[in-house]
Amino acid sequence: MRIVLMGAPGAGKGTQAQRLIEHFKIPQISTGDLLRDAVARGTALGVKAKAAMDSGALVADEIVLGMIRERLAEPDTARGFILDGFPRNLAQAQALSSMLAGIGKPLDAVVLFEVDYDEIVRRISGRRSCAKCGRVFNIHTDSLGNPPRCDRCEDHPLLIQRRDDEEATVKRRLQVYEEQTRPLADHYSAQGLLRVVQADAPVDEVTSRLIGALEQLPAARRASR
Ligand code: AP5
Repeated sequence: MRIVLMGAPGAGKGTQAQRLIEHFKIPQISTGDLLRDAVARGTALGVKAKAAMDSGALVADEIVLGMIRERLAEPDTARGFILDGFPRNLAQAQALSSMLAGIGKPLDAVVLFEVDYDEIVRRISGRRSCAKCGRVFNIHTDSLGNPPRCDRCEDHPLLIQRRDDEEATVKRRLQVYEEQTRPLADHYSAQGLLRVVQADAPVDEVTSRLIGALEQLPAARRASR
């Protein structure tokens, strides 16, 4: 099963991707996570990406496409993958189609998570993550203590807020999403690949809507045989 998860910043793509990993046993490929990791390690790629990420703009296509090309060549993607946060504009979508056509493995579906603007802002303002295990939490819905700490790691490290979750940067990210990424829904709808999931609901409910939509696909039936 080869799928793309798209939706505004904070729509829940990363959260739901974690659920799909368990359900379909395929890896998540998050360009945001790959870029944040490169920034944290101070690699040449990370240094180039940092300014764009801090301002809420998109990182240059050639950087992101190089990263995706390398990641898709890894053996764990043979049974499929969940692309989270990629593609983000038409050039990336076209490059992805060519890459996948080249290996005879086209996308099975593109899922668009629809969430209200107010809920997006609430989710992003409450998002905290663990620098040690990478889990993402939310102070509005999870009991994390004050100050919030990771309940998955044995030593309960303090949770951190993402740099680009600051209000002005979030505004810019939402604008970039509307201008460059949201139009991809029409692009994929025209190809018959788009599935829309209403994601203004508790996490478990969104997961069952998502899995319900994906189980209808011929690829899901093939995978379960
Ligand atoms: P990226 O990391 O991809 O950020 P994003 O798309 O803005 O998405 P988020 O990670 O903010 O949100 P999400 O939808 O995953 O939500 P989450 O599950 O965490 O990109 C960051 C930056 O990297 C970009 O701005 C850009 O600079 C660069 N970049 C990345 N990809 C790129 C590309 N392809 N091209 C160029 N540049 C690129 O959930 C959010 C919060 O809500 C969490 O706290 C979660 O616990 C909570 N939550 C989730 N679901 C629910 C629910 N149903 N109910 C209540 N709370 C919920």
